[in-house]
Amino acid sequence: MQEFQTNKANLTQARLQETPVHTLGDGEVRVKVDRFAFTANNITYAVMGDQLRYWQFFPPNGDEPEKWGIIPVWGFGDVVESNSDALPVGERLFGYFPPANELIIAPKRVTQTSLLDGSVHRAELPPGYNLYQRVNHERGYDRAHDDQRMLLFVLHLTSFCLHDLLKSNDWFGAEQVVIISASSKTSTGLAYGLADDKDAPHVIGLTSNRNIDFVKSIDAYNSVLSYDTLEQIDASKPTVIVDMSANTDVLSSCIST
Ligand SMILES: NC(=O)c1ccc[n+]([C@@H]2O[C@H](COP(=O)([O-])OP(=O)(O)OC[C@H]3O[C@@H](n4cnc5c(N)ncnc54)[C@H](OP(=O)(O)O)[C@@H]3O)[C@@H](O)[C@H]2O)c1
Repeated sequence: MQEFQTNKANLTQARLQETPVHTLGDGEVRVKVDRFAFTANNITYAVMGDQLRYWQFFPPNGDEPEKWGIIPVWGFGDVVESNSDALPVGERLFGYFPPANELIIAPKRVTQTSLLDGSVHRAELPPGYNLYQRVNHERGYDRAHDDQRMLLFVLHLTSFCLHDLLKSNDWFGAEQVVIISASSKTSTGLAYGLADDKDAPHVIGLTSNRNIDFVKSIDAYNSVLSYDTLEQIDASKPTVIVDMSANTDVLSSCIST
């Protein structure tokens, strides 16, 4: 068994660590990780790993455990061994996993469609990340949609909340919305939400030259500009900027435009 670990002080460094075989305790379940998504959002989990405790979900095996961390991912796994009457072998779960061959969980509050991992080291962490969906029990579950779900589920939540925040604040009085890193999946979700909203102001997508054709092709933004042409934005209009890039140079240029 192996797990993918990242150097917490230098995110460009990684290692594949062999993991010892864990004999299941009472109530524990072995989940074989089947597939997972990895996007810029997972990099944010690593960047914010200390402040927002993302490193604590899946403690690393091997030497120097204080140096290495496991970046959580969203994906699917199958129960291959179980000491829990509530969660038998063959269950398929959607939720938060380590990029590893397997995850041991201690199911609690098991309902027909979901459960929480009650492992002690996760007890104080935000419950939303400890929740697993028992997908075989969902009405209409279709494995053919697994890839889209693991890739978009959590990003769509954020796109939805951003749309809701802007709308419920009357667009903060803005006549245009500028979305930075317009090609990202979270921005795309927001742009589609705004495109469907007849009350939304004009939406401008800002992106890199390498992604500009793609962003134009999805037809979600009213207009699309590259970072080196952002002076074309009409700076006289009240504007809301949604910064999905965290690129301080781009953000400063937008603010000073
Ligand atoms: N706080 C939350 O709850 C939450 C939830 C979801 C997402 N987010 C944030 O939203 C942002 C977008 O996440 P995502 O998963 O939607 O992103 P994504 O689909 O993986 O897109 C990443 C985008 O980042 C830009 N980029 C710049 N340098 C890059 C590089 N070296 N490698 C790859 N991409 C690079 C590119 O956009 P351009 O070419 O258009 O600049 C690229 O399309 C992230 O910062 C994420 O943390 C936050």
